[in-house]
Order: sequence, then structure tokens, then C-alpha cells
Amino acid sequence: MSTASTMKRPKTQDERDLLLYDSRLQRPIRMKTPELERDGRIRHAIFSGQFTVPFLEELAGIADMIRLMSKSRAGQDFLINLLPHKRAMLYFTQPSTRTFLSFMAACQVLGMSCNEVRDPSTSSETKGETRFDSIRMFSSYFDVVIMRSPIARLAESCAYLMNDLDSSGSRSVPIVNAGSGADEHPTQALLDIYTLQRSFQFANPKDSPSSNKLDELRERKGYDGLTKGLAHKTIGFCGDIGRGRTVRSLAMLLALYEDVRLVFVGPDHPTLAMREDMRERLVDRNVRFYEMDSFEDSLDGRPVIEQLDALYMTRIQKEHNNAADTDSLATIDFSKYCLTPELVSRMKEYAPILHPFPRDQHFGEIPPEIDNDPRAMYFRQARNGMWIRAALLAHVFDVDRLISRHFLTEYVERHHYNE
Ligand code: NCD
Repeated sequence: MSTASTMKRPKTQDERDLLLYDSRLQRPIRMKTPELERDGRIRHAIFSGQFTVPFLEELAGIADMIRLMSKSRAGQDFLINLLPHKRAMLYFTQPSTRTFLSFMAACQVLGMSCNEVRDPSTSSETKGETRFDSIRMFSSYFDVVIMRSPIARLAESCAYLMNDLDSSGSRSVPIVNAGSGADEHPTQALLDIYTLQRSFQFANPKDSPSSNKLDELRERKGYDGLTKGLAHKTIGFCGDIGRGRTVRSLAMLLALYEDVRLVFVGPDHPTLAMREDMRERLVDRNVRFYEMDSFEDSLDGRPVIEQLDALYMTRIQKEHNNAADTDSLATIDFSKYCLTPELVSRMKEYAPILHPFPRDQHFGEIPPEIDNDPRAMYFRQARNGMWIRAALLAHVFDVDRLISRHFLTEYVERHHYNE
């Protein structure tokens, strides 16, 4: 048994806060996921390991319906009447533009009202209130807490707090993780997967970088083994692999698909390279993955840039550099981790280029010259965030079935009848 003197003393208030939930946080993912669900649906969206391929497909289907309904006034009216009795708290204590606004827009699509705390210096945390007291207070006034925090695992701990409140008969609300430290960003992974799913349908020229249909790509362009969907694809990640929470969350989702290969291109530096826990998770899931330090490194005998079915660029998260990093990072040639029109011209014609954004104009990992290339998906990807987040909220609040029923009667059956 550990005694007070042998136990590692938590240094910061953050560490002390999380210690309350330590034994639950340390469990394997498969033991945690049931606790984050209720009645067979996701209640707290905390990490991407909660999602399965059927769930991702179901959610993409709902997002597609919401997207189509939103094109008409009648459809918008239907959606806006689904959750007008629900209120969301957006508790974002780390900078955010897209995630914050797209969650807010997603709430508005479904008629929910929103409020926000973005600066903890304006909240009672400055008077010594713990984050857990703050969250519990939010749950008194709101029906869901969507939170972004620099503290890894805080959102997960808040989900356990809510479950404990629930068990003791107190008020408790769903927690949605909108980015937790360098750890996870599960809803970004949802929109990234949704964007890839749509790209690999090869159906809609708006979403698919190549306006050619799949057969044509196979026959005329020589992409023989190309298939619809995410299975059998080689997906590249470039940039800050170590600190990129979007990379971590998305890689775990891609690992769910058959015969997917992941290629991580980035500097071989302890801060920027893949962390050991992620390597272990990928090994655990039996995914084939490669770590390379240049797009020119070889995969199946050709430079990797020519072999990718999709490329996920990221920025170097220099705001998290510590003093030691600043010196050692200064010796790295980062130009290798920036796309150029020349590199893009060597990519497969159908290969989408994604980026969670913001891109760094000074670093230049994606220069604006590339924006008009049909493979540049990042603006569409950001808009997809609004649809998939609306679909997730519809799932959490159990109105997704109302959406599919309405879609079937008003859009599918009516359409057939009119034919
Ligand atoms: C990312 C994040 O916050 O992790 N941005 C986002 O949510 N779209 C990526 C980043 O900041 O580089």
C-alpha cells in the first residue's frame, strides 16, 4: 500500500484535480466506453476510441440529411424545432475559432440556445473555485457542456463527475470534449472522417477532389485497385505528430478500417515525433504504420507523396514549446514539412488534402496557392464540422430518429411519388 511519503505528490492544481479520478482514468478504453453511453447511445463524447465504424456511418448519414434539409426554409424550420428546449454551455478555456463557432452553429441548426465561458479570468475560478464545481454549476443551468481545455483528461474526468451525480440522483448532463490538451479532439476526428468518407464516395464532384467517376479513375488513370470508402487506403499525416491531438484522434478512427496504412511524416524530434502511448495503441490495433522524415522517403518503391490516398497536414504547435525545444527545434529544416504546388502535382489526382486549421501563415505548411487545387478540402472540411456536430448533438439528445423519419417521408418518399 502506498503511504503519503512514497506517493508521487501532484505538483499543480490541475494534477491535484485529476487525481480524484485517477483510477478511472487509467483503465483501458474498452472498460470506459460503456460508462460514456446510456441506453445504447453516446452520452458523453470524450475520446475517439468510443466510436465504431457503424456509428461513424450512421452519424454521416444523419449529417447528410441535416445538410440537405438545411437547404430549404421548410427543412430549416423542421430542424430548428427539434431542440428549442435545450441549452448548451460552451466552456472553451483555450483559443478556438472553428470548433467553437461550428458547435455554436450546430446548436443553432437544431434550435438550441448557447452560452459561453471562454476566459476563466471572468469566472469564479479566480476566486478559488475548482473546475469541477464550475462544471457542476454549468450543469445546473444548461443541458450539455461542450468543453475545450488545455488539460488532458479534464473532459473525461468531468464525464465521471456527471455519472457520479447521476448515480446519486442529482442533475447531470452530457459532456462533449472539444479538445483536451495534447490528448484528444474526438469531434474533429468525426468531421475529418466524414470528409474522407465523402471524398471516397467519388460521387459528388463538390466533395471529391477528382470530378472523374471511380471507373474512369481506374481505367483511364491507372488507379487499378481504387475502391470506394476508407478501407485499403494509405493516409499520410504531416507536421506535429507528437502534439497534434487531431492526429491522435483521427489515427485511432482510421485504425478501425480494414487494411488502412498510416504514414506519419515529421521531424525525428522527441517533442514532434509520435508519442509512445499512441505507438502502443496503433500496435495494439494491428495497424500498419510508418514513421518517415520526408515526403521523398520511399513507400512501396516510390516517394511517399506519390503513394498517398489522402494527406492530413498540421501546423507545428509552437505555442507549446518549452525552453529546451526552442533551441533544438531551431536546427530543424522545416521546409520539408510544407506543401508546395510541385509536391501537390505529384499526388494522386483524387487524393484529398485536409488540415484541421488554423494553418500558420508564417510557417506555411499549406501556402494559399494550393487553395484552388481541387484536392484542397480544408474549407469544405471545416463546414463539414458544423453538420457532423449537429448530427452528434441530435444523437446525444435522441432526435436523430426524428430526422431520419422526416427525411424519409418528406424527401425520399415524396421524391419517388413525384417521379
Ligand atoms: C486544432 C486544435 O485545436 O487541436 N484546431 C481545431 O480544432 N480545428 C488544431 C490546431 O490548433 O493546430
